[in-house]
Amino acid sequence: MWNLAMEDAVAKTRSNIGRFGPLFPHVSNNDVYALNDNRAWTAGFWPGMLWLCYEYTKDETFLTAARNTTESFRDRLAQRKALNTHDIGFLYTLSAKAHWIVLEDEFAKQMTIDAADLLLARFRPQTGIIQAWGSEGDEEYGGRMIIDCMMNLPLLYWASEITGDRRYSDAAVQHADKSRRFLIRGDDSSYHTFYFNRETGDAIRGGTHQGYADGSTWTRGQAWGIYGFALSYRYTRNPLYLETSLRMARYFLERLPEDFVAYWDFDAPVNADTKRDSSASAITVCGILELLGHLPIDHAERDFLEDGVHCSMTGLIRHYSTIGKPDAQGLLERGSYSVRGGASPDDYMIWGDYYYMEALMRLEQGHPAYW
Ligand code: GLY
Repeated sequence: MWNLAMEDAVAKTRSNIGRFGPLFPHVSNNDVYALNDNRAWTAGFWPGMLWLCYEYTKDETFLTAARNTTESFRDRLAQRKALNTHDIGFLYTLSAKAHWIVLEDEFAKQMTIDAADLLLARFRPQTGIIQAWGSEGDEEYGGRMIIDCMMNLPLLYWASEITGDRRYSDAAVQHADKSRRFLIRGDDSSYHTFYFNRETGDAIRGGTHQGYADGSTWTRGQAWGIYGFALSYRYTRNPLYLETSLRMARYFLERLPEDFVAYWDFDAPVNADTKRDSSASAITVCGILELLGHLPIDHAERDFLEDGVHCSMTGLIRHYSTIGKPDAQGLLERGSYSVRGGASPDDYMIWGDYYYMEALMRLEQGHPAYW
């Protein structure tokens, strides 16, 4: 089943090369992807899909398209275009770093290190966090961390490995430790965001930006945590990170509805109109596959986790994929960007498509992903 789904995903990605041209997809409106000139936080996911398709097919069409995106990312970095954000990790891991991994291209490697420098500059020693949004000293955002940032840390760990300079991984570890302590609650659920006093570093409170309520668990945030902590374990071998990923995964899987695809927030009241976030389930599958790769073969929860992966992927393929709709632009229906903010509930999201494809590549080929 995974290979048929992957073939379908590759065919749609091939069609999208012509549709998207030099632009980058974000989320859809009426089933048509909104495109931008590489200024959204999501621009890395399209190159990530092109590199995966190239590795799967060895077809030069994907290689040429993927290489072209690196040029766009070079310009974005040179111009500092919309890079006042922690999303530098999402952006440059799946573009320049993937290019380096696949082709061992030295220029792409240096670009990735330069991007890591920019991310490192967002580390705030007073709070021990990487500032998610806004400029240093910003009244609203200055002392604020968000769980999504766990997925940006691998860029820093990698930069330390490749340069031998520990400043990157030291910052990543401090941020991961702070995330573990303040974003993950005692019952293994998570805050989306946490505020600190930006001058003293004192903890203030947890909250949300895209979830149902300050104390609720936004499913995509939980997914970012599952995957992000598993990746922090990959680079540091700190068993606390692996344990955190496992506990968050358990929380996620135990709260899935009948078709095994998550609603947008675990605490949102469920009725016929409650939105899903298929992307949260796709991210979680990738995160659990990463986690499984680090657990002992006889781990007591291996069957539970493998079953969770199987049911989630089967649910996505059968009920949320666009298999059987050959002209569709997206791969996964019913993602939700921000139900709370009224942004794109029930649309294609390029990151949902990306993680769905990454999950298929992991399942079909044991691909380790570019993180
Ligand atoms: N990282 C932004 C989001 O998950 O919507």
